[in-house]
Amino acid sequence: MNYEEFKERVRSGNDIVDVIGRYVDLKKSGANYKGLCPFHNEKTPSFFVMQDGQFYYCHGCHKGGDVFKFLCEYNHMDFPDAVRELAETAGIDVPDKFDYGDAGRIKAGLKNRLRDMYKTAAEFYYKELHSGSGKKALDYLKDRGLTKNTMVAFGLGYAPAGRTALYDHLKGKDFTEEELKESGLFSYKTGGPKDAFFDRVMFPIMNRASKVIAFGGRILGTGDPKYINSPETPIYSKKNNLYGIQRAIAARKERIILVEGYMDVISMHQAGYPETVASLGTALTKEQADIIAKLARKVYLIYDADGPGIQAMRRAIPILKKAGLFVNIVSMKPFKDPDEMIKSEGVDGVEGRIRNADNAIVFELECIASEYDRKDPSENAEFEMKAANMIVELRDRFQREEFIKTVSERFDINKELLTSEVNRIGDETYKEGIIRRKQNPVIRRPEGVGSRIRDGDQGLPDERNVLLALVKNPKIFEQVKGYVSVEDFTTVFLREVADILFDKLNNGGTIQAGEIMSRFDNEEQSDLGRLFSNEMYDASDDRTKSKFVSESLKSMVMRMYDEKSENAPPDEKLRLMKEKNALSDLTIDINPD
Ligand code: UTP
Ligand code: MN
Repeated sequence: MNYEEFKERVRSGNDIVDVIGRYVDLKKSGANYKGLCPFHNEKTPSFFVMQDGQFYYCHGCHKGGDVFKFLCEYNHMDFPDAVRELAETAGIDVPDKFDYGDAGRIKAGLKNRLRDMYKTAAEFYYKELHSGSGKKALDYLKDRGLTKNTMVAFGLGYAPAGRTALYDHLKGKDFTEEELKESGLFSYKTGGPKDAFFDRVMFPIMNRASKVIAFGGRILGTGDPKYINSPETPIYSKKNNLYGIQRAIAARKERIILVEGYMDVISMHQAGYPETVASLGTALTKEQADIIAKLARKVYLIYDADGPGIQAMRRAIPILKKAGLFVNIVSMKPFKDPDEMIKSEGVDGVEGRIRNADNAIVFELECIASEYDRKDPSENAEFEMKAANMIVELRDRFQREEFIKTVSERFDINKELLTSEVNRIGDETYKEGIIRRKQNPVIRRPEGVGSRIRDGDQGLPDERNVLLALVKNPKIFEQVKGYVSVEDFTTVFLREVADILFDKLNNGGTIQAGEIMSRFDNEEQSDLGRLFSNEMYDASDDRTKSKFVSESLKSMVMRMYDEKSENAPPDEKLRLMKEKNALSDLTIDINPD
């Protein structure tokens, strides 16, 4: 068990009302408890303990926090001692492998330690690449046409041939054995710890916040395995990340280009396509499609034209469509990968291919056309029905019309017939479609990514209100996530809070305010106390709450539109204004179904 899990067990094994009740005389007040604040002098109680949220907050001196913070502040205890005491109270065994000597380290939590470790490792590999020992790796990358700038932009590195180079380096940096073991950077199979990556070019994998969370390592030249990759760790999950995402976010383009591998991403970026990302050595996941859909409305696939590449595209297309994306397929024939294509045709050639990309419908029909004998009337009819069904999937009537034209010409189908088929099926699925759309809310936010980060830590009232409502009424998450995502919060602090919250809710869980607080430091805990102890909200009826969330969310999204249109060209401004006006009917129901 890692320390975070342990801490969480201790936290949930102690009711904060019992714990604080031992020191402060508490009286029931609505759903909560109140008493005289132990942290400042007062005659009328303004110190509240929230039982369902498992936190405390004083409206007088604005101190607040979780159960651990209370003990620390009240008894002037160190954090690990507070955890130990509460573990003992709740009868939970304290594993002795935790290092209680260094309070700061434990408090930061394993995840933070691993992030530090990956950062340190990335810096180590980077230095090695540019040192004597890395010369052959540097030559390899140069041979493949990468410029110095590109290597720096992607933080490429070299894992030296010695089998304990990184291990020794990190040991010298004060990481514990336990932490090194959890990192996935070492192999413990044969004898002592050995570096998992050696004599390889290193590709740091970064998350949306540009933090290194994993590595891919490529052999120099040919050999097996060509790549090895970091395992899943507390800070890395393959299905939730995309290679190159941090740069694609910064690029703020209205489309995303999806390719297959690390080198594809890098050569596309170097050719001037920073909006390129790749899934991480696995088939594209729903989660990755959702990430892409938050950044753009259109996605262009540039996959190998060989068998496995086509299979991978056919699997990816429905996932991307389901996330609400318009999917286009760029033909790479006769080249093996984007790298080769760019080298041979230059940037202009690539641009032309992207412009001539096929919509996924045409691609899919082309894939299945050979399975039908078009000379046989009944098989031909079946194929034509298939085409009509695919066109019906398009929601936009004008788009449908356009596709009827393209498909009828390309696959030699009578246009009038196709039109009437599409309309017929369209009418039938119309009602069903409305139901489906309700379950899968259309994403309603401006294209491009996130809000700009603002000064000041506390963020804006509307976004704080949305977080409050999500914690108190997690059922609204399904509705809310159609409008905003983590990147839309405007301070680093609120993004961290939203990240924890969205992560939990996305997995169908709920979360207590106190659990969120436990992840933060003193000052931040007090601020969260203020945020989550909103008596007005608690006292309101469902209708008022619904109105409160709806208005707050609307204000957030409207601001996103305003920011987006600040620098937009005039016709784009007009489009954004129309979209923004359509938001006036935004309503969130606090009690759906
Ligand atoms: P590719 O073989 O197309 O690699 O695999 P690439 O990135 O284009 O690299 P170069 O051009 O040969 O140097 C595509 C992706 O599949 C995963 C990696 O993520 C790779 O980028 N992969 C491939 C592995 O994880 N392990 C392997 O052994 C091979
Ligand atoms: Mn390649």
